[in-house]
Amino acid sequence: MEPKAPESPSSTTPVPKPSKVEAIKLASQYLKVHMANEAFNGESHFTEDATTVLKFHGSYQQDDRDHRTLLKREGKEKAYSMMVRIRMPGGKGTASQYLAVDELARTIGNGTIRITTRQEFQLHGILKSDLGTMIRKINEVLLSTLAACGDVERNVLTCPAPIRDGVRDAMQDDADLFVAHFAPRASSYYDVWLDGEKIEDPSFPKPEPIKVPTAGDDPVEPIYGKAYLPRKFKTALALPEDNCTDVFANDLGYLAIVEGGKLVGYNVLVGGGLGTTPSAGKTFPALAQAMAYVDRGDFLAVGEAVMKVYRDFGNRSDRKRARIKYLVFDWGMPAFKAKVEEYLGRPLGSPKPVEVTGVDDHLGWHEQGDGKLFLGIPVENGRVKNEGTFRLLDGLKAFFARYGTPTRMTCQQSILLVDIDPSWKSEIEALLEEYGIAQVERYSTVRRWSMACPAMPTCGLAVTEAERALPTIMDQLEVALATLGLESDRFTVRMTGCPNGCARPYNADIGLVGRSASRNEDGTPGPGTYTVFLGGRTLGDRLNVEFKDYVPFDRVVPELVPVFARYKADRLDGETFGDFCHRVGVESLAEEASPA
Ligand code: HEM
Ligand code: SF4
Repeated sequence: MEPKAPESPSSTTPVPKPSKVEAIKLASQYLKVHMANEAFNGESHFTEDATTVLKFHGSYQQDDRDHRTLLKREGKEKAYSMMVRIRMPGGKGTASQYLAVDELARTIGNGTIRITTRQEFQLHGILKSDLGTMIRKINEVLLSTLAACGDVERNVLTCPAPIRDGVRDAMQDDADLFVAHFAPRASSYYDVWLDGEKIEDPSFPKPEPIKVPTAGDDPVEPIYGKAYLPRKFKTALALPEDNCTDVFANDLGYLAIVEGGKLVGYNVLVGGGLGTTPSAGKTFPALAQAMAYVDRGDFLAVGEAVMKVYRDFGNRSDRKRARIKYLVFDWGMPAFKAKVEEYLGRPLGSPKPVEVTGVDDHLGWHEQGDGKLFLGIPVENGRVKNEGTFRLLDGLKAFFARYGTPTRMTCQQSILLVDIDPSWKSEIEALLEEYGIAQVERYSTVRRWSMACPAMPTCGLAVTEAERALPTIMDQLEVALATLGLESDRFTVRMTGCPNGCARPYNADIGLVGRSASRNEDGTPGPGTYTVFLGGRTLGDRLNVEFKDYVPFDRVVPELVPVFARYKADRLDGETFGDFCHRVGVESLAEEASPA
């Protein structure tokens, strides 16, 4: 029997003690106190309590993990710096915004820009003393860091391809509206960083009036309340034929329903989330499940009802079990849906029978349908940098300075150059060549479909390498796959430096998740070991299964080679690598794989 949802928030007795983070959020008085006290106090870093509030303002406090041990041995303070994330719905930006971010990366950041798996720009290595300048300058070009992190609705994803089919543009409008509606409404961000001035993009939608008023609504933050959500909340929009946003990995998903070439509504999916803590058996990655169909005009109201149910019933005592996926799991979808309907005050229809059938990475040259072209450029692990003859950072700067056309970011950490006049094509190709930027045709299929999270040296939670290590895995995989004649097979390889799953490893064909740390003699992080997962798939609608645990870095590819060989010998017609592993069974593959 399905568990029943509680009648009202007050009936959930006995109430477990809220976590420390809940107390910090409340004490912050709408995310203000700690920032007002510490943002400009001249210290090298924020206090622990303030770092919780800092996240809602779009920044994480980090320290240089490469030098952490050395500094400790010398009795010195950690080398603190801040990461800043710029929230950009659908990864949409102008040339001048790109150029401003480039300038900030060179002058205040660490000289690189990271394109994230959630269509944002992320800058690393910012000193605390520069954070105020950084946030002000980002706002001056009409971008924002507000709610890029923290226990709120984060950046909203939608297909970035500028295909003028009437549907993608409508979905971008919806993504913008969603971000505007669910942004925190307190003025703290503007008060702390912009002296109270609210710099806004006049072309961006305004928040709608509250759609689903409830008795628990706070006057300042009517959607979130004083304690905001129990944990982060991620939303994505996707098309059935192009799930490039990985909709099932999100807390809330909107799968477009298109009739007669028009976006008429969405199937609403709820309860996805990939983070897990292996030591806490009660945690698990989950894919979002279809809850209901909604007409387009109702998409915001249903989102608000879902978020308010989560606000009122999500777990606020154990942050490891606070994501909405656990609420959906504990109650079961029928009870969860019933509670959303209660908040909405009306019943919801059943989801339409629609499946996800494709994923496009939008790389290479494509027609937009309005006479213009767009070009998708692969960015390995999302890092825009200069390294030797490869000068992506300089090349993109030169491109945007010369052409002034807009840009889009993909959820595969790549960048699209859009609105290109066909007559510019050959000079753009020459420009990319001049800066040593490889177009997608020169990329191997396996590298093209791979991603890694930042991990070392910036992420405080990393146990192992990811971004810095995946290129070596790719070099080895390219050789192994070419030897077996599998170089054209398409499958995803996603690597993270810890089980939190930021590069979405748990629904990939091959997931590599940092398991245990090792240290080099000089105290710098060593290669470590990984959990290898198999059997997810590129469409993103199936979780993978553990293949081997504690695999040392240099054994990862040798462990996979026998599975590739078996795939080559025994696959069915047209069967993908992930589907093969799923059909044969990952456990049996693990038993029979005995690498040399
Ligand atoms: C559940 C626990 C999680 C925690 C505590 C966490 C924490 C973090 C931290 C500290 C960073 C900054 C790393 C750096 O820039 O050095 C980061 C990056 C990021 N995380 Fe997470 N994360 C979690 C799960 C996830 C999941 C499940 C996703 C998406 C499915 C995700 C998406 C991202 C994205 C997009 C970035 C930016 C960098 C990138 O694209 O790789 N995170 N996360
Ligand atoms: S997966 Fe882990 S190591 Fe990678 S960015 Fe996320 S929290 Fe950091």
